[in-house]
Amino acid sequence: MSATPLEVPRKITPPLLLAMKTRHKKIVCLTANDYPLARILDEAEVDVVLIGDSLGMIRLGYDSTLPVTIPEMLVHLKAARRAVTRALLVADMPFGSYQVDVKSTLENALVLVKEGGAEAVKLEGGYPYVRRIERLVSAGIPVMGHIGLLPQSVRVMGGYKVQGRTSESAESLLRDALAFQRAGAFAVVLEGMAAEVAREITQALEIPTIGIGAGVGCDGQILVTEDLLGLGFSKKPRFARQYLNLNHLISNAVCQFKEDCATESFPSEEESYHTKASEPASTAK
Ligand code: KIV
Repeated sequence: MSATPLEVPRKITPPLLLAMKTRHKKIVCLTANDYPLARILDEAEVDVVLIGDSLGMIRLGYDSTLPVTIPEMLVHLKAARRAVTRALLVADMPFGSYQVDVKSTLENALVLVKEGGAEAVKLEGGYPYVRRIERLVSAGIPVMGHIGLLPQSVRVMGGYKVQGRTSESAESLLRDALAFQRAGAFAVVLEGMAAEVAREITQALEIPTIGIGAGVGCDGQILVTEDLLGLGFSKKPRFARQYLNLNHLISNAVCQFKEDCATESFPSEEESYHTKASEPASTAK
């Protein structure tokens, strides 16, 4: 189906994402975890900037997302908050912050919203989390769901395994997606699942689906930005398209700097200061 033009105003909101789905305008989402990256994404008019708990693996060197805490999320979220003006700023609820009772889930989400400046929160799981989502939404916190391959459930799933390959698994994913929608979620991330199933879920839902390793039939796409940039040491999943090799570029720049130091071609005259006697005052900076 071809996209019809949609005037996208400056600020992206959950209702606007719904309108984008209705008009078949693809929603573009990326992760960020610091000020410069978030600002670059926002200025490039990415629709959703996610402070994903993948930052635990990508930036903090953990071997899964499980150890990430709310205080760690807050550091990265606040940095991105200072940068983002146009995109919808969504924060992941880290493991342990909503696998608790409904009251504690609300308290933890409120920290991300009030202290961190998140405009919405994302949580993984499906049907079992319906009451928590209802509570957050009734408190005025927009919720993005996340189903399919769930990194926070890596131990239960026995690894990062693609979902929806059997009809039972496909039916259970559709049930989870519908449950999220009924509970009031404004969008749902479909991660690591058969493309046919993601397309079917997308067609069955009124709210937008955001795919990651879920084929082209979703209403939008998200990637971990470092995967796209080739930055970092996490294993790049098959579905992540790499546009740059920043590791390589950074390493080359560092080697060049080492060389320039060794040969005294750094710093140059322009990169040096001098005494007042040897330099006119007007050129001193
Ligand atoms: O944590 C994250 O970055 C995510 C995306 C991969 C969807 O949840």
